[in-house]
Amino acid sequence: MTEAILLVGGKGTRLRPLTVHTPKPMVPAAGVPFLAHQLARARAAGVDHVVMATSYLAEVFEPYFGDGSQLGLHLEYVTEEEPLGTGGAIRNVAPRLHSAPSDPVLVFNGDILTGLDIGELVDVHTRTGADVSLHLTRVDDPRAYGLVPTDEDGRVTAFLEKPQTPEEIVTDQINAGAYVFDRSVIDTIPAARPVSVERETFPGLLSGGAHLQGMVDSTYWLDLGTPQAFVRGSADLVLGRAPSPALPGRCGDRLVLGTARVAPDAKLTGGTVVGEGASVGAGARVDGSTVLDGAVIEPGADVRDSLIGAGARIGSATVLDGAVVGDGAVVGEGNELRDGIRVWCGARIPAGAVRFSSDQ
Ligand code: GDD
Ligand code: MG
Repeated sequence: MTEAILLVGGKGTRLRPLTVHTPKPMVPAAGVPFLAHQLARARAAGVDHVVMATSYLAEVFEPYFGDGSQLGLHLEYVTEEEPLGTGGAIRNVAPRLHSAPSDPVLVFNGDILTGLDIGELVDVHTRTGADVSLHLTRVDDPRAYGLVPTDEDGRVTAFLEKPQTPEEIVTDQINAGAYVFDRSVIDTIPAARPVSVERETFPGLLSGGAHLQGMVDSTYWLDLGTPQAFVRGSADLVLGRAPSPALPGRCGDRLVLGTARVAPDAKLTGGTVVGEGASVGAGARVDGSTVLDGAVIEPGADVRDSLIGAGARIGSATVLDGAVVGDGAVVGEGNELRDGIRVWCGARIPAGAVRFSSDQ
C-alpha cells in the first residue's frame, strides 16, 4: 500500500466566482466535489492513506470526507496557518507519513483530471531508482505550466515553471501534477517557510545531481483551474471520456441527480449535469454544462458550455455560451451572455440587459 499527499490549499483565483465560497477541489464536477474523483482513483490504485494539505477555506474538507472510511481510505487533514506553497505544503505534512525513508510517496495537485495509471508511475519510479518521478503530458501551449524536458532515457534535464520568454519554451512536455517522491527527499524540503516545489525544490534537486524521472503519456489530462476547463472536465466525466469510479450514476449524455426536476421536452446533451434540487424548464436546451444544486433554468433558455452556480436562476429565452454564473445570481429573461463572462455570486442582471449579437 502507498501513501499520498493531496495539495488542495490553492485559492483557485482563476476559477472565481466559483471559488468564492468553495475551494476549487470541492466545486462539484459531475455531481460530486471534484476531489471525490481523485480520491476514488487513488483508492483504486491501492492508496490507503491520504494526507490533505489544506489552506484556503480549509474547514470545508473534513465535514464532507471525514476520516475517509466511507471511501476505504484513512484521511488526514493538515492546515497551513499561512499558505506554504506547493513544496512547503508537502514538507508540512511529512510528520503524518508512515513511510520509511526509501518508500515511495505519491503527491497530487488537487485540480487535475486524468486517466494516469498511478501504479505505472510508481513502477517507473521503483524500476529507475529515481529520487522523484513526475507524470508528464504534452500540450499545444505549454506556457501556463511547468516545462519538463527529458533525455532519451526519460531523465529530467530541467524544470522551467511558467516560462516567460520564447527561448525558454524548449519542449511541449509539461509537469502534469502527479509525483512519486522517495520519502527521504520530502524530509529535505525546508520546513516552516513557503517553498514552491516547481520553482525551488525541483530545480534545486536537479542542480544537486538528483535523479528526476519523467513518465510521458497521452492519457486523458486536464487542469481544471479555469472555468472553461472545469466545465469541460465535468462534461468529460459524465460522457465517460475521463474515467472515475466516483461518478454518481451511469456515463452518458447527461447526469440528472435524484431530486432534480427536468421538463420532459427539455434537451440535456453533451455531458450536462443537473444537481440536486435544480430544475430545467420546458423547452430549455442545456449542452455540455454544469448546473449546480438548486439552480433554476427557466423555460426556453439555451445554455451551452456554461457553469450555473448553486441556487442561481437563468431567465427564459436567455442564451448562455461559455458563461459562469456565480452562486445565487439571477440572470433575467432575454439576456445573451457569452465568451467567458463571469457573473458574480448574488448579482442580478435585469431582463433584456445584455446582448452580444447585433440586432438586425
Ligand atoms: N496546501 C497548499 N498550500 N496547496 C497549494 C498551495 C499552498 O500554498 N498553493 C497551491 N496549492 C495547490 C493547489 O490547490 C493545486 O492543487 C496545486 O497546489 C497546484 O496549484 P495551481 O495553482 O493549480 O498551480 P498551476 O496549475 O498554476 O501549476 C501547477 O500545475 C501544473 C499542471 O496543472 C504546477 O505544478 C505546474 O508545474 C504544472 O504544470
Ligand atoms: Mg492548476
